[in-house]
Order: sequence, then structure tokens, then C-alpha cells
Amino acid sequence: MSPFLLTRTLPEDATGAALRADVLHGLTRSAAHDPAQDSARPGPAPTVKSLPPKWFYDARGSVLFEEITTLPEYYPTRAEREILVARAAEIAEVTGARTLVELGSGSSEKTRHLIDALPALHTYVPVDVSESALTGAANTLLAERPALNVHALVADFTRGLALPGTPGPRLVAFLGGTIGNLLPAERAAFLGSVRGLLSPGDALLLGTDLVKDESVLVSAYDDATGVTAAFNKNVLHVINRELGADFDPDAFTHVAVWDSAREWMEMRLRSGVDQTVKIPALDLAVHFERGEEMRTEISAKFRAEGVRAELADAGLSLTHWWTDERNRFALSLSTPS
Ligand code: SAH
Ligand code: AVI
Repeated sequence: MSPFLLTRTLPEDATGAALRADVLHGLTRSAAHDPAQDSARPGPAPTVKSLPPKWFYDARGSVLFEEITTLPEYYPTRAEREILVARAAEIAEVTGARTLVELGSGSSEKTRHLIDALPALHTYVPVDVSESALTGAANTLLAERPALNVHALVADFTRGLALPGTPGPRLVAFLGGTIGNLLPAERAAFLGSVRGLLSPGDALLLGTDLVKDESVLVSAYDDATGVTAAFNKNVLHVINRELGADFDPDAFTHVAVWDSAREWMEMRLRSGVDQTVKIPALDLAVHFERGEEMRTEISAKFRAEGVRAELADAGLSLTHWWTDERNRFALSLSTPS
């Protein structure tokens, strides 16, 4: 018997249907009909085709992400861990959390600092689309903390979460800067739904990567050993496997660019040749011109005032703002206004 509860809140074929809808929408729309492709804005030329980043994370993608977190160029994980180690006791004291919900928890590797600092913690609720990451994380945590209650949820955090009825106060953690992978309108909707999960006395702990030098950012998303390139191309492997497509990952190159107007990093896949890709599950053939780019991820970088304003718009008041020594990353705590 599994030592932890695992609940799938996605209906049986929800993942397949959602992937089909996202791929169809992302690879067939035109720029004129897409509010995310605002061609009047300054900055790099907009890409038209795009895929949502959540599809990177099958079992292989989750492993590749963990490898990214250890790369010398990828500073966010180390910077956020530094803040967590320094502030975990304060977070525990301020929140008194009995339930820790973590959205996009992945390996839960940094979260252990928080878990170990929360004396009243009753249940840890990791939430992720990646079932392999969730089971790996829960088993690792429980090996060292057999008394911890873990209730893992396989769920999409952008789709109205139903949380288990565990004791409050509840601390919802959203670490890693994953909020930056949502477009601004998606972020607003997401923060509104998180606000809806919080009762008086609950709190949101949010990790946000900060605006910094372009060269540091570009290196973080285009590392020398090519792990990020493999992670980026993993979405093509996922579509090939799940939808029977014939993407040749070698026919695309990894691209990482800083959009200074929108203050986000953008990962793209650039077609090296003129090619047509077949996607049988959608009865679709998609043409890519040589040099055409498809956006696979944005990773927004933030400033304190922007975070405060986005939280306030969602009905959350920022109460604490902590950064690492080098001001690369921030953790903020906010409570219902
Ligand atoms: N929080 C961890 C992992 C970050 S990687 C850290 O800070 O290192 C992003 C994680 O979010 C992955 O585990 C991925 O599977 C998950 N994820 C991405 N989009 C998601 C979504 N829409 N719903 C639930 N989980 C999602
Ligand atoms: C999960 N997320 C915060 C990562 C990021 O930095 O935006 C995903 C990632 N993409 C490329 N490298 C890491």
C-alpha cells in the first residue's frame, strides 16, 4: 500500500483532450486573432505558433527540469533555496501553517526546508500535472519523515482546484518562479483563483524571478551543455508519443530570447528547414517555413511593485518581501485583503 494519498482530479482522458486542444489551437491560429501576439508592441518580432509550457513535463521532462536546476547558469533554484533556508523559520512563525499546499511542486526538493520549519504542519498537499514527479517527491519525503501526511494531487493548477479538507491555517506555496510561465492574463485569472482558496488567516508564498542583466538571463535559458535545449524539444517528443505526430526534434533548434518590452524570457523552437509535420490524432498537417519560430514558453521576470500590484488586483495584500543576497529572486508572502 502506498504510504501517501494520491488523488487524480483530472478525468481519465482530460490530459489527452487538453493536449489535443492546445496543440490544435497553438499550431493553427493566426497572429491577428491572438491577443497574446500583440504585433503592435515594440521588441522582438512576435511568433505565431505556440505551445503551452505545461506539456514539457512528462516523466522525461520532469527529470530534465531537475537537471536544469543543477546547472551553473540556472541561478533561480539556488537563489530561491537561499531565501527559503534564511526565512523558513520566519515564514513558519508568521503563518503558523497546519496545511502546506504546493502548486507545481515537482521534486519538492526546496520545500523540505519549509516542511521541516513548520512545527504545526499536519498535511502537505503537493499539486502537479506530473504524476511521476509527485510520486517520486512523496516517496523521497516520506522516507525521511514517515509521520508526515502527504496528500498528492495530480491536477492542473490553472483549472479550479478542489483542495482536501485539511486543517488551517493553510499556506499555499507557488515556488520556482513558475508563475512567470503564465501570460499576464493567465496570471491574473490564476491569482484570482488562488485567492478563492484562501480563508482569513491563510497565506500565499510566491516565488518570482527578478528582472536582471540580459546576458545572465539568456545564459540561464541557453546553457552550454544543452540540457535546456533538450527540455525545450521534449514537448515535441510528448506530441509525437501522445498524438502520433512525426516531429523530428533534430530539425528544430532551441532559441532563448529576452523580450525587454514585456520583461520576459521566451523559449522558442526554430525550424531549420521547410517542413510539414503530420499530427494524425488531430488529422492535421502543420507547415513550418525554414527559420520559422514557435514559442514554447515565456518566463516573466518581475519587479517588487509589479508583484505587489498583481497581488492587489487579485485581492491579496503583500506582507513580506524577501530576496537573496544578490537580488536575483524574491519570495513574497501575501494574505487575503
Ligand atoms: N516548484 C519546483 C518545480 C518547478 S518546475 C521548483 O521550484 O523547482 C514547474 C512544475 O510545475 C513542474 O513540476 C510541472 O509539472 C508543474 N506544472 C506546470 N504547469 C502546471 C499546471 N498547469 N498545473 C500543475 N502543475 C504544473
Ligand atoms: C518552471 N519554470 C519556472 C522554469 C523557468 O525558469 O521558467 C522552466 C524552465 N524553462 C527553461 N528552463 C527552466
